[in-house]
Amino acid sequence: MEFKTIIEPFKIKSVEALPITSKEQRLEFLKREDWNLFGLKSQEVTIDLLTDSGTGSMSSEQWASIMRGDESYAGSLSWQRFHDVVSELTGYKNIIPTHQGRASEKILASIAVNQGDIIPSNSHFDTTRANFEFAQSEPVDLLCKEGLDLLTPAPFKGNIDLEKLEDLLKSDNAKKVPFVLMTITNNTGGGQPVSMKNLKAVRELCNKYNKMMLLDACRFAENAWFVSQREEEYKNVEIREIAKEAFRLADGCTISLKKDGFGNIGGLLALNDDNLAEEARNLLILTEGFPTYGGLAGRDLDALAQGLKEITDKNYLEYRAKSISYLADKAIQYGIPIVQPAGGHALYIDAKTFLPNIPPHEYPGHSVACELYLLGGVRGVELGTLAFGVAQENGEPDKPATHELVRLAAPRRTYTQSHFDYVGEVLEKLTEKKDTLKGFKVIKQPKLLRHFTAKLEPLS
Ligand code: F0G
Repeated sequence: MEFKTIIEPFKIKSVEALPITSKEQRLEFLKREDWNLFGLKSQEVTIDLLTDSGTGSMSSEQWASIMRGDESYAGSLSWQRFHDVVSELTGYKNIIPTHQGRASEKILASIAVNQGDIIPSNSHFDTTRANFEFAQSEPVDLLCKEGLDLLTPAPFKGNIDLEKLEDLLKSDNAKKVPFVLMTITNNTGGGQPVSMKNLKAVRELCNKYNKMMLLDACRFAENAWFVSQREEEYKNVEIREIAKEAFRLADGCTISLKKDGFGNIGGLLALNDDNLAEEARNLLILTEGFPTYGGLAGRDLDALAQGLKEITDKNYLEYRAKSISYLADKAIQYGIPIVQPAGGHALYIDAKTFLPNIPPHEYPGHSVACELYLLGGVRGVELGTLAFGVAQENGEPDKPATHELVRLAAPRRTYTQSHFDYVGEVLEKLTEKKDTLKGFKVIKQPKLLRHFTAKLEPLS
């Protein structure tokens, strides 16, 4: 029998008080922080949808495994348990633990990327892009055309454009390509999945042109769930089997285990190539730690080993995807344009379409994000010109970003249906305030990654 109600497939054992604040207080907090939501203290935020990274709840089995943590410097039991689970899941030959995703990216960029290289991807996440740029290479996004159209739904908007990829791989520039990196799901493009068909086609191109294929697999389980729902051939395949097959199409991966590792911290780099792996381990010792802990405590490795067993649970993945699409339905009902269909970990509001009168250099996404906080203490993040635009000297307006998005990312197993109903009500109130919203101006900003610390002022 089908039920309309989404139930959380878990019960609550330990709770944390949810901060409830008044509108007057929230205005004071935002003014104190010069209108930068990153400055807020967690006790000033009622529903925190800033990120799904490291912010989820751990299960009682994960907490129990914390107590089993073996803190031996080398060869700990925790490492062995972590290694066995990752090895069963991914099949990769060399597994290297790191403290989080970008540490894996930094090592990968140091050992496999040279100055002037070109790194094709469906879409690079911003830290991945930054690490490749830091290695003086050029990361290029070759997202399929459905993915570029925010508002029209399509099942696999995270796919890479295979024609563009082949054009690059057969061009004179091909020798500059060390590997192809596929991000599953595509966070930057709205949390959209990549089909198995697309991954297999990338594998074939990599074979044909003798290139390594790697995954940025932070949200591998969510991707596998979408595949099970949307790709005919995989309708009756277990989620874990789909994930295993996806990993085995590639030659290695980077993962931030703060997402589908169900962990509060952790990452990994996995490679089939022994020589590259040896170089990676040598660098790991320099910056992260010995190869059997890589910047993590034994107890973290144990919690992740358990999390990586739990994450492919169909009931959990269904609840997760449905709670995001439930919120998406509410947004659509209230006339808020969103990236469609709803992504795996977050709702993305298209602020450019929602507030056409606020130009990109006055940050329409930031205006929406601040209003959501003022209305109901809901914290999201602007992913538009404030985050990705380029400030100009001599008082010229910023070079705008391609999109003006606001991301509301759901931490894993943390908020309930009534919390999502509450966020829905805040979205309804946002629509009522739409015509009164104003843009912002930056009054102070650092040169790099300005959105984290910039000071802003509302335009009157
Ligand atoms: N790749 C993707 C696709 C990501 O979403 C992230 C992090 C990383 C790599 C880097 O991992 O944070 O562990 O170093 N995304 C977070 C977010 C920060 O909010 O989307 P990390």
